[in-house]
Amino acid sequence: MLSTAPMMNISAYPQIGEHAAQGNLAQGNRARMSVLVVDEDAAVRDACCEIAEKHGFLPHGVPGITAARELLRGNSIDIVLLDLKGSASSGLELLDEVKTLHPETAIIVMTAYATVTSAVEAMRTGATDYLTKPFALDELATVLERASERRTLDLASRRLREKLRTQQGLGNIIGRSAEMDKIYRILSKVAFTSHPVLILGESGTGKELIARSIHVNGPNATKPFIPVDCSSLVPTLVESELFGYVKGAFTGANRSKDGLLVSAEGGTVFLDEIGELPLDLQAKLLRALQEKEVRPVGATHRVPINVRILAATNRNLSEMVEQGRFRKDLYYRLNVVNLRLPSLRQRRDDIPLLIAHFLERKNREYGKNFRVSDEMLRVLMDYEWPGNVRELEHTLDRACAYCSGTVLQLGDASSPIINYYSNTRPKIATPPLLNDTSLAGPAITPLAELEKQAILKALKELQGDKLAAAKLLGIGKTTMYRKLKEYGLGEA
Ligand SMILES: Nc1ncnc2c1ncn2[C@@H]1O[C@H](COP(=O)(O)OP(=O)(O)OP(=O)(O)O)[C@@H](O)[C@H]1O
Ligand SMILES: [Mg+2]
Repeated sequence: MLSTAPMMNISAYPQIGEHAAQGNLAQGNRARMSVLVVDEDAAVRDACCEIAEKHGFLPHGVPGITAARELLRGNSIDIVLLDLKGSASSGLELLDEVKTLHPETAIIVMTAYATVTSAVEAMRTGATDYLTKPFALDELATVLERASERRTLDLASRRLREKLRTQQGLGNIIGRSAEMDKIYRILSKVAFTSHPVLILGESGTGKELIARSIHVNGPNATKPFIPVDCSSLVPTLVESELFGYVKGAFTGANRSKDGLLVSAEGGTVFLDEIGELPLDLQAKLLRALQEKEVRPVGATHRVPINVRILAATNRNLSEMVEQGRFRKDLYYRLNVVNLRLPSLRQRRDDIPLLIAHFLERKNREYGKNFRVSDEMLRVLMDYEWPGNVRELEHTLDRACAYCSGTVLQLGDASSPIINYYSNTRPKIATPPLLNDTSLAGPAITPLAELEKQAILKALKELQGDKLAAAKLLGIGKTTMYRKLKEYGLGEA
């Protein structure tokens, strides 16, 4: 080996994945990263190693592709600084190889001015950055620093994605479907930035849950997370809530008060139902975000803000923009990154996981052992879920409250689900999905029997109050009496 640069014991390199785990992103005290310098010119190689070492990296220099390949085979390298001069094609080959075998390794290519096209090609092949020779030494330091920051973030985001996927993510987001995986991929990246994120999705798909997760998995988790429901506050209140007010600004303003954008200092404000924000407040919000300061109601002065904005809506904001009901400039400002949450029908594979999750919570709460019958599971898997995860959660809550034993039966579900079942029953009368033979009950219960059970349960729950039971079951008084007679429940 020709390099006279400080050598290091490669076997002592930390393994991939250790660096970010040891460092705290927010504080930037990361472990030393390894840099492999591949350059046949000993002087350049040594100079690069020296600079890298001076900036806190662990450098190792090799003269060519063969030595580099050898070294990469048995060691974990964070950053490769690769000279493409002369051996451009084998250099690109190595780059390709590293990208395939060690996708987490950052690659910086060095090219002579004359071969700048190779740099373009290298970037296309997946190089992280490039340097055109001759370069100033502090240029190298900047590029190394940039690569290492990116690598730290990549590692942290990879770990977070894994955590979310295996349901250990903070915030209890459940789902392993491909649709949720896409969400984790984006979430794990945006959590470490301070960009605004627009969270879209039908009602009950978990928009607030995701917003909280972005906050708690980010560097400012210890700072406040403040949700503001733009739909439930009257317009004048939204303004004073968000921007604050001064004493005497309006009747009842006996003292000045900071707005939420100010008091969230360093944290996150979650603007829920942003589509409901009136147009004049949209203009004020945009100004606040652009200028990073707010003017409290009744004040002449402005107050600086330092806050991350997350926004959510179940409305079609781009359509609202076209119709002139939502400001285009604010839309673009909030929509730097958007997360479109899948509806529950788009990720039916996750339904059993969600059921298990909610029942486990119930079981812990009540010290019981609730489970769902095969039949109930089939219907829950098949149902349209207009209210998404929230509706599923409520359905299970209700079924647990109505269930007389521990196996939740269809009769314990709410009327939309029972109605759905009765309308689609022939379609979904398929073999049981669960092999668990311990689950009680026949695979198919006649509808009349279900109805009878539901009526009996409602009556039992309501101490025989027929009118209240009818109301709860969503049927009229006359129908109730007719059914009682039909099922011989006259005295129930
Ligand atoms: N992926 C998920 N895993 C576990 N629980 C979830 C998931 N998604 C949603 N939930 C639960 O469903 C309920 C509704 O979620 P959330 O309030 O976040 O929905 P939302 O999209 O904000 O609904 P809305 O538009 O009606 O405000 C919450 O109790 C939440 O914990
Ligand atoms: Mg919500």
